[in-house]
Amino acid sequence: MEKRSLVSIADHSKEKILYLLEMAAEFEKKPNRHLLDEKVVATLFFEPSTRTRLSFETAANRLGARVIGFTDPKVTSSTKGESLYDTIMMVSSYADIIVMRHFLEGAARYASEIGKVPIVNAGDGANQHPSQTMLDLYSIYKTQGTLENLHIYMVGDLKYGRTVHSLLIAMSHFHPTFHFIAPDELKMPDEYKTFCKERGIPYYEHSQFDKDTIAGADILYMTRVQKERFTDLMEYERVKDVYILDKAMLSKTKENLRILHPLPRVNEIAYDVDSSEKAYYFQQAQNGLYARQAILCDVLGITLDQVKKDTNA
Ligand code: CP
Repeated sequence: MEKRSLVSIADHSKEKILYLLEMAAEFEKKPNRHLLDEKVVATLFFEPSTRTRLSFETAANRLGARVIGFTDPKVTSSTKGESLYDTIMMVSSYADIIVMRHFLEGAARYASEIGKVPIVNAGDGANQHPSQTMLDLYSIYKTQGTLENLHIYMVGDLKYGRTVHSLLIAMSHFHPTFHFIAPDELKMPDEYKTFCKERGIPYYEHSQFDKDTIAGADILYMTRVQKERFTDLMEYERVKDVYILDKAMLSKTKENLRILHPLPRVNEIAYDVDSSEKAYYFQQAQNGLYARQAILCDVLGITLDQVKKDTNA
């Protein structure tokens, strides 16, 4: 079988992204199917996760697959010195697909090069989180009715936040205007600003986060300051609470604004925002189930046509 990993959202064309969104919509209509009967999905989480792991495992279960894996590398033989190479080679012989989160940037690419089965990157260090991006795109499409010509405001830890890096690359197909709101220490890395410049994508940088700054947003993409990526915890303490969105800050925002957050949240969205109809982060997490069902099917070679024709619930 052709090996079809999902390592970086940059590996997908605009057409492929739209194709996967259409497949996700099919799964939202009917999540319980037998498309992955007799398949085994391995979830290898070398870093903590709630949503990504549980939604991938739910996606697999709802499609009839069985799931193996670990949630804590401390209970695996990596603590005895086993290499990632050996782990992937071995799990490749047990499972039909490997979903992996790893703390090293590039670990998923490496695994995809050596493994015998498709690898889905569930986050590699501060680099990429492509399955999150698919559910983010699905959420944006559902709430805005389009992905084209949107004003996307990214807020918080734009340096270490892998979700904003993946989202920026994916949105580049759809004529966005970006606003990057971050303290100096956590600004969007130069490589992503260069990426925008090379494609003629307008972006604006702000350090101020207030109701006037966000008044033009269609999507406000909040992020957590990624404590686990800091080498200097004093620096984390300085920046961790610099931007907190509260309900009063929404007073000038557009009617169609939706607030996204990959979650987990720490302090960056006050709980009073949850009751706003503009808060969409919990529905966004739910959309992860459908987006990940589409990803699992796609990497295993199941087509949109097959999903549409599937009546075997
Ligand atoms: N959004 C996300 O990756 O959440 P988890 O870390 O809980 O998987």
